[in-house]
Amino acid sequence: MQTNLTITLPDDWHLHLRNAEVLTKVLPYTSRHFGRAVIMPNLQPPVITTANANLYRQEIINATPKEHHFTPLMVLYLTEQTDPEDVRNGFLAGDIAAVKLYPAGATTNSEAGVKNIEKIYPVLEVMQEIGMPFLVHGEVVDADIDIFDREAVFIDQKLIPIRQRFPNLKIVFEHITTKEGVDYVLSCETHTAATITTHHLVINRNDMLVGGIQPHYYCLPVAKRELHRLALLKAATSGDSRFFLGTDSAPHLAQYKESACGCAGIFNVANTLVILAQVFEQENQLPNLEKFTSLHGPKFYKLAVNTGTITLSRTDNAQPLPADVVTDEGVIKVFDPKMPVFWKVDSIDY
Ligand code: NCD
Ligand code: ZN
Repeated sequence: MQTNLTITLPDDWHLHLRNAEVLTKVLPYTSRHFGRAVIMPNLQPPVITTANANLYRQEIINATPKEHHFTPLMVLYLTEQTDPEDVRNGFLAGDIAAVKLYPAGATTNSEAGVKNIEKIYPVLEVMQEIGMPFLVHGEVVDADIDIFDREAVFIDQKLIPIRQRFPNLKIVFEHITTKEGVDYVLSCETHTAATITTHHLVINRNDMLVGGIQPHYYCLPVAKRELHRLALLKAATSGDSRFFLGTDSAPHLAQYKESACGCAGIFNVANTLVILAQVFEQENQLPNLEKFTSLHGPKFYKLAVNTGTITLSRTDNAQPLPADVVTDEGVIKVFDPKMPVFWKVDSIDY
């Protein structure tokens, strides 16, 4: 049995860091184990211009522990008013890595998102021209569409028409949760990729709903039935370069999740890499872990891979769950995969 694994320092292609105190508390978990992360812009107010993103980047850099070597990759939150020239200039200046589509109402802080996709075509035109990745929260928001079907319906109603209209646009289908999502990405030969979260490789909807409602397993897109988890597992561990890690780590204070109207999001960066090592080992695909965490993402984003490495080792005893994150306002619970994790991070060479 393999007991040691040294891989290129990973990147996280989908991460929520928030701001203020929560940012300073959660960021070190990411900057310790990752070289870069794509920073989601759904703050309140959202990060909608290059100027907003540059201010937020500075806040992140100021909060990064000095001994870490971390680069935030900034993302603009797309609105129907987004200026295509701001997008172009921000990308060409190296300030902005991508633009994120939140259908209005789809998830946390998405109210300012897009209602009418046609209104954003001028921005997509520019992004296609300059090769800028378009990150898609792929769920429809229609009240009459069942929440478990929202991703599959999005593919047919929104994604396929966007792809037809913009054949060369680089699209990342974010945090896919369904077999339909996997199959769609596999049907695209070029310019299309997907991020997959750690938790969607581990939980299905039973973990959230059986034996009492489990708010710490509630996230969006919501976990689906087991056949979908198995499709994600197969895609993530397959070595196919269209799939890479986006943790979608999304910290919320426990009191806002354990509530009559609990919010969506799972904080998983504290133990993501060891959980992934466990999952890839169980699938007999440990040699593909580095591709998923460290190689496929940079390839799609056309960035160099990180030069640092991280070494994981397998121990004889299951490792304890990392402690909750304590803030002045309450705690943030760490994702509990509810399975023994024998891997630990041994050393990091930035
Ligand atoms: C995210 C958040 O809390 O910002 N929540 C989540 O469940 N993933 C928003 C998102 O990525 O949809
Ligand atoms: Zn997210």
